[in-house]
Amino acid sequence: MRSHLLNDTTAEQYRRSVTEGVERVAAKLAATDRPFTGVSVDALAPRIDEIDLDQPLHDTTAVLDELEEVYLRDAVYFHHPRYLAHLNCPVVIPAVLGEAVLSAVNSSLDTWDQSAGGTLIERKLIDWTTERIGLGPAADGVFTSGGTQSNLQALLLAREEAKSDSLAKLRIFASEVSHFSVKKSAKLLGLGQDAVVCVPVDHDKRMRTVALARELERCAKDGLVPMAVVATAGTTDFGSIDPLPEIAELCEQFGTWMHVDAAYGCGLLASLKHRDRIDGIERADSVTVDYHKSFFQPVSSSAVLVRDAATLRHATYHAEYLNPRRMVQERIPNQVDKSLQTTRRFDALKLWMTLRTMGADGIGQLFDEVCELAREGWRLLAADPRFDVVVEPSLSTLVFRHIPANVTDPAEIDRANLYARKALFASGDAIVAGTKVAGRHYLKFTLLNPETQASDIAAVLDLIAGHAEQYLGESLDRAS
Ligand SMILES: Cc1ncc(COP(=O)(O)O)c(C=O)c1O
Repeated sequence: MRSHLLNDTTAEQYRRSVTEGVERVAAKLAATDRPFTGVSVDALAPRIDEIDLDQPLHDTTAVLDELEEVYLRDAVYFHHPRYLAHLNCPVVIPAVLGEAVLSAVNSSLDTWDQSAGGTLIERKLIDWTTERIGLGPAADGVFTSGGTQSNLQALLLAREEAKSDSLAKLRIFASEVSHFSVKKSAKLLGLGQDAVVCVPVDHDKRMRTVALARELERCAKDGLVPMAVVATAGTTDFGSIDPLPEIAELCEQFGTWMHVDAAYGCGLLASLKHRDRIDGIERADSVTVDYHKSFFQPVSSSAVLVRDAATLRHATYHAEYLNPRRMVQERIPNQVDKSLQTTRRFDALKLWMTLRTMGADGIGQLFDEVCELAREGWRLLAADPRFDVVVEPSLSTLVFRHIPANVTDPAEIDRANLYARKALFASGDAIVAGTKVAGRHYLKFTLLNPETQASDIAAVLDLIAGHAEQYLGESLDRAS
């Protein structure tokens, strides 16, 4: 069994095994002509169920053959140009190389004595990001597992900084289309059920600052404490960017922590054309960035950044076995002092390899391309009488629905769109997402693949219309 341990004596086996795996995946990627096979849960589950985990195969080739059956063949492939669903990007090769290196070396970024250079690399990337945001000389941050954890940590710091004698009095203000991790965080942080105040959005799905001001005033009048305003720079559904400068003004006026959830919009930090769309982000107290959304990084790669490094102390605990307090005086950099996690992946290496290979401009160019693609998609949708499109894209998301000719019942239109999404998924030809707007079912393209062409968008719209029409035809048959 020792032959499976990665060490000086097994370097050759490591090379062979990993190369075999890489070759399988490379062949798979080269041959994938659809984002999905359309396999059903019922078809796939028995294949996985029947595998006896207590009967190992002992042979890499056999294990990879089996993996082909249970995973690779039917996986959802984000790199395919017709994967248009959620906030998953195709990944860049330097980052995948980083992933291979980091798991083989297996540093843990909690302490200096488990990572050495890894800690310094992460710190440099945090500094690079805070500089791009413009958070100032006292800024700091830490890599996290994703936007959910980054938002949670930011709100934990905001809670600790808020001056209140009771958790029940704390209020967080976020737009009605903010990410659900804000509400989840409030619950995890022990705040009351009414802690998150949903601020309405305007026609472009941006937080209405007049409404925010009104809510902040009401909060003060009711003797409650405005703990934080969460401004979203790139909402999950619409890619809309809340008016950051106006929100910053209000936060200053009411003495409230400003958190910017830029999990999606952070790609603009590298943009060559549209950086100004997130002007005002530099006034935040904390910022969430998800490199695994718009920096083309593999999951997971995220960070929470703060204006004032001192606020990170709210996540600091010391233990003799890991990071004794004396190490702070000895100036030993232990990232665990700033993190909610203890053992932690060296995800930063992926971004490092990316920046050192492609440069930030390379990433920004790719993100600019998908933003431009979304504009083209919007023009297509706006000109097509078969579809209703909700808002012009600020980033790379389009929310729309098929409006069949001669059908006026909104519930029937809902059903036709729901059917079209399911049928498309089952066909594997393309994958789109769905959401609700004003109580009605809509479909969504999240465009993060620069390889997707306007012709792909047009073709997928035809497929959607075809499936919806088929549903309506069958529905008429059923009725008659
Ligand atoms: C705006 C926004 N914030 C936070 C998150 C959560 O990020 P993660 O899925 O990485 O936890 C998402 C995910 O889509 C998001 O769109």
